[in-house]
Amino acid sequence: MRKILVLHGPNLNMLGTREPEIYGSLTLDEINARLVEAGEALGVEVQTLQSNSEGALIDVLHDARDWAAGVVFNPGGYTHTSVTLRDAIAAIGIPVVEVHLSNVYAREQFRHKSLLAPVCLGKITGFGWRSYLLGIHALIA
Ligand code: DQA
Repeated sequence: MRKILVLHGPNLNMLGTREPEIYGSLTLDEINARLVEAGEALGVEVQTLQSNSEGALIDVLHDARDWAAGVVFNPGGYTHTSVTLRDAIAAIGIPVVEVHLSNVYAREQFRHKSLLAPVCLGKITGFGWRSYLLGIHALIA
């Protein structure tokens, strides 16, 4: 069975209580459970991981090259700042879909810029937890 990595960046472990008016009230565990279940129905194995650390996220991306068909990645605030994550995505050569729960374009100006989008397959933003689901569909398609 094909495997997909769903990778969550900083502060996403706080989902459920973190600014629920922006990010919704589901916890990360609840979102992950829905994605694993959706993956099963679609015939793919979804593995999930979260880290608050840039270096750990880079290590996970490097490792994914050896086992994942693609990555659905919410890089959180690193989206707007991280040259090193951009370089990691460019280096691994497997498709990465950038996703965000909130519509970053309806928010502060600094969230409109993504250093990662140019090296990603595409970007999905603003559909709550379903942004991840759409990302999985995009990878499969
Ligand atoms: C986010 C959007 C980012 O701007 C923010 O820093 C996050 C969450 C989202 O999922 O909407 O941490 O990636």
